[in-house]
Amino acid sequence: MFKRLQQKWGISGAQFWVIFVAFGLTGITTAFITRYITGWIGLTKETFWLWKVLLRITMLVFGYQVVLLSYGALLGQWAFFWKYEKLLLQKLGMMPSEKTESSFKTVNMAIFASGAGSNAANIIRYFKNRPDTKIGLIVCNKPEAGVLGIADKNGVPTLLIEKDRFAKGDAYLPELQKTGIDFVVLAGFLWKVPAALIAGYPNKIINIHPALLPKYGGKGMYGSKVHEAVIAAGEKESGITIHFVNEHYDEGATIFQASCSIDHADTPETLAAKIHDLEYAHFPKQIDELLAKHVGK
Ligand code: GRF
Repeated sequence: MFKRLQQKWGISGAQFWVIFVAFGLTGITTAFITRYITGWIGLTKETFWLWKVLLRITMLVFGYQVVLLSYGALLGQWAFFWKYEKLLLQKLGMMPSEKTESSFKTVNMAIFASGAGSNAANIIRYFKNRPDTKIGLIVCNKPEAGVLGIADKNGVPTLLIEKDRFAKGDAYLPELQKTGIDFVVLAGFLWKVPAALIAGYPNKIINIHPALLPKYGGKGMYGSKVHEAVIAAGEKESGITIHFVNEHYDEGATIFQASCSIDHADTPETLAAKIHDLEYAHFPKQIDELLAKHVGK
C-alpha cells in the first residue's frame, strides 16, 4: 500500500517517511491546539455541543492545513504540501483550478484507415478547433482509398505504408515518432498490428470493430463479411466494440460497446448503416474520454 502511494505521489522512499511524520505531527499538534483553544475560550462540558463541533470543524478545515504546511516547510517538504493544499482548495471550490503543464499538452493522434474513411472524417470534424487534440497523420495502405481524399480536404498529412515493412520491420515507428504521434486510432484498418508498433505505443492504440466482440471478430471478419455472418446467424442484435489493440485480431481489452437491434427486414447493407450511425455517435466521444483519462492531456 505504501509503495503504491509513493508511486502515485511520485516521491522517493525517504521523502515518503518524512511526509508520513509530518502528517503524524500535524494530527498531534492540531489536537493539542484544539484543546488549548477550548480552555482558552472557556468551553466546558456544559457548553452547547454545537459550539464545540464548530470549533473542531474550523480547526480541521483551517488549523490542520496551516499546521501541516508549517511542518511540511520545516521538514523541507514545502513543495509537496503546497501542491497538496492547492489541490484540496481547488476541490473545495476555494481556489480556481490552474492549468497544469499536462493540461496544455496537445495529443497528436494518427488515424490508420484504408477504406472510405467516414469514421476518420467524423473524428477530424469532432476534434476540429480543439487546442488539446490534433489529428496529425492519416496512415493508409491503399493508394486508392477514399480516406486519402478526406485527409487532403482537411489538410492532414498522410503516410502510405507498405505491407512487408509494416509487418516485419519497425512498423514505421520512426515516421510516427518523428511526426510526434502519441496516440493511434484504427478506423477501418485491416492489417494485423505488429509487436513493434504495440511496444512503441503501449495501451495507446485502439480499434473499432463493427460487431459485439468477442463474437464475429478475428481474421477475415471485416466490412460486410461481419454483417453477413451476424444476419446469417439470426442474431437479434449487433453493435460496435471499441477496444485496445494487442497482437491478436480483435482481442484487446474492451473499452466500450453499444448495440442496435436487428429486425427480419435487415440486410447486411441496412445493418452496416445502423452500425455506422453508432460509430459516428460514439467513437469520437470515447476517444475524447480515453485521452482525458489516460493520455494526460
Ligand atoms: C467501420 O465500420 C469500422 O467499424 C470498421 O471499418 C469500417 C470503416 O468504415 N473497422 P469507414 O471507412 O470509416 O467508413
